Amino acid sequence: MSNTENFVKELADKYGRSRESLMPILQEIVDVQNYVNDEAMVNVARELDLSAAEVYGTASFYSFIETREMGEYIIRVCKTIVCDMKGKEAVLRAIEDTLKVKIGETTPDKKFTLLTTNCLGWCHKGPAMLINNEVFTELTPGKVVDIIESYMHK
Ligand code: FES
Repeated sequence: MSNTENFVKELADKYGRSRESLMPILQEIVDVQNYVNDEAMVNVARELDLSAAEVYGTASFYSFIETREMGEYIIRVCKTIVCDMKGKEAVLRAIEDTLKVKIGETTPDKKFTLLTTNCLGWCHKGPAMLINNEVFTELTPGKVVDIIESYMHK
């Protein structure tokens, strides 16, 4: 039995094998390994007696469940209207210039992936972004470069 198979089996034991267990199981896989790969999806489908297509459909529907390999730090910049009006575009450009990647890309050292996301609930303090689970608000191009640089040296 592969590691992934064992891990998925443990999650199914923990959360149960009903359709409702699908989201928490996928979420925990993301927490542990950053994204849900094909092998994990097939294993989840087997444990929960669902089709692989159904598992894949659910995983790809939710933007917080990644199905591609991600960097160690996933940056998600809010692209919704309030942050947009408060200067998210300049913040994004500053991140792209610092990391030399475009939205959707991962740095060659696999340290950072840059994504955009919908409203994070911090509109009153926009522009906002997440790095993994940490929230950063009231961003400016200068501030965001300092934040990214502090992560580079972690
Ligand atoms: Fe960006 Fe709400 S619009 S956090």
